[in-house]
Amino acid sequence: MGKEQEHWGSRIGLVLAMAGNAVGLGNFLRFPVQAIQNGGGAFILPYLVSFLVMGLPLLWVEWAIGRHGGIYGKHSPPFSFSRLSPNPFWKYFGVFGIFTNLGIIAYYTYIESWTLAYVFFAIKGTFLGMGQSSEFVSFFDHYVDVGDGKKINIPGNALIFFFITLWINVFFLSRGLSRGIEMVAKIGVPMLLVMGIILAIRALTLEPGSSQVVHDPMIALNFLWEPKFDSLLNPSVWLAAAGQVFFTLSLGMGPMIVYASYIAKNDDIVLNAMGAGWMNEFVEIVIGASVVIPIAVAYMGLDWVQNNAGFMMGFKTLPYLFNNWGVAGSILANFFWFALLFIAGITSSLSMGTPWMSFMEDEFNWSRKKAAYIFGMITAILALPTILFFQHGVFDEYDYWTGTVFLVVFAMGEIILFAWVFGMENAWEEITRGADLKIPAFYKFIIKYVTTFFISIVFLASLVNPVGGRWVDAWNSVFSGNGWPFGETSIIGRILHSGAKDTSYFVDGNFTHVFFMDMSRLLLVAVFLGIAWMVYLAGKKNREEGP
Ligand code: ALA
Repeated sequence: MGKEQEHWGSRIGLVLAMAGNAVGLGNFLRFPVQAIQNGGGAFILPYLVSFLVMGLPLLWVEWAIGRHGGIYGKHSPPFSFSRLSPNPFWKYFGVFGIFTNLGIIAYYTYIESWTLAYVFFAIKGTFLGMGQSSEFVSFFDHYVDVGDGKKINIPGNALIFFFITLWINVFFLSRGLSRGIEMVAKIGVPMLLVMGIILAIRALTLEPGSSQVVHDPMIALNFLWEPKFDSLLNPSVWLAAAGQVFFTLSLGMGPMIVYASYIAKNDDIVLNAMGAGWMNEFVEIVIGASVVIPIAVAYMGLDWVQNNAGFMMGFKTLPYLFNNWGVAGSILANFFWFALLFIAGITSSLSMGTPWMSFMEDEFNWSRKKAAYIFGMITAILALPTILFFQHGVFDEYDYWTGTVFLVVFAMGEIILFAWVFGMENAWEEITRGADLKIPAFYKFIIKYVTTFFISIVFLASLVNPVGGRWVDAWNSVFSGNGWPFGETSIIGRILHSGAKDTSYFVDGNFTHVFFMDMSRLLLVAVFLGIAWMVYLAGKKNREEGP
């Protein structure tokens, strides 16, 4: 690839980079909230089943697709796919493997920039003595309510921190795999683990009765881990669990294919993929579940947490609760928490840059620096609407399509391509070649049938998920002749703007939510088509140059 061949420095570096790719904001901010909102122990069984029959097999599949493409000098998803089938459909399908990353990174780096800003605030002691407020450290107005009607200005703003964050990403991407991504992972992942474990131990040892602690933090763990079997029949809980497995393992995105394309033909995949996957699960289930929720439960109680669980809890609630830990304790806890989030974020966002980088380096012979700078520019263009029109739902729109739906679509395509088109015998040989651990043979069956079936069901359910996730009511509605009530979160409902107050673009002198949603979609479609066109040009160039 390019002039200077990319490579990983060491096996441990590769596994840490893969783990860093997976471990992200999703482990600390998304997982606990999903678990709480879907009934705690009710969520955990579908989550574990999804991990075993879908997550783990897809890890092997993506690693194997990547390594296979790498043998032929192809490192980007469209061209890794074209090595598995000559049908041009697959090459264009592989566009998702570059495109979704651009969509995700556009909002992901924005949240990452909040965590960087909060590291800065933590060191400055900005959070000391602050009360909980709905405007707590809002990024959009730079004022923070400190009680008694007083507000203080927080230095910096969303845009400045965003551009610093983006620049850091571009900088490490331009250094390449071993000197950029691997180096960040080798330093960052162990640091993240240490900070996470310290915070988790502190959270779980909060004692009721001491310094404002009202409840036993173990109540949170009981709620999260005590299995509740009734959820097994609720498709919405399954959807949420499968969605979390996708997001947290970075499945259906593409970077894993790219990372694996830089390993040698006979290097192990099976054990490495499991190592990275299980490390992600450890960070998610053990550490991620043991910080935000137990601390919030200890001070505010389980009912409060159930009613208020949301993504912003990590930004709004924790800094306020850390104030109970004294001045030094609060500064340190805030620093650990936000530094940990920043590291988790950057090791993932860097990975999202690699499909683009490998595509431009492989197919257009761009230098790393050029590819990284242009990547930064595209990301900035895509991210600006999410920052400037955050409240209008642009951020949610990107997250819905690129961070949720297209992951499932891409994963469904790649499993069909690999297990069915390329063929399961070839696929199995590709996965197991050079393996340091034997996978039980029944996984052949699981990959071909169970995983494919499971993802297809997840996709179909996402397509038609009814209002409020109430499937029984939806069927009743069909049988009483009122049709299927597509929920706002279903793909069809989303396309049709179900539940929108007004579907026109302009009302009372203001652009509506629907306007911003449709403009975001247009932008995303334009990016997809732009990449597809580049894939076409690259294919043409390859044909002209010959094999
Ligand atoms: N896997 C990454 C995360 O969990 C995207 O945040």
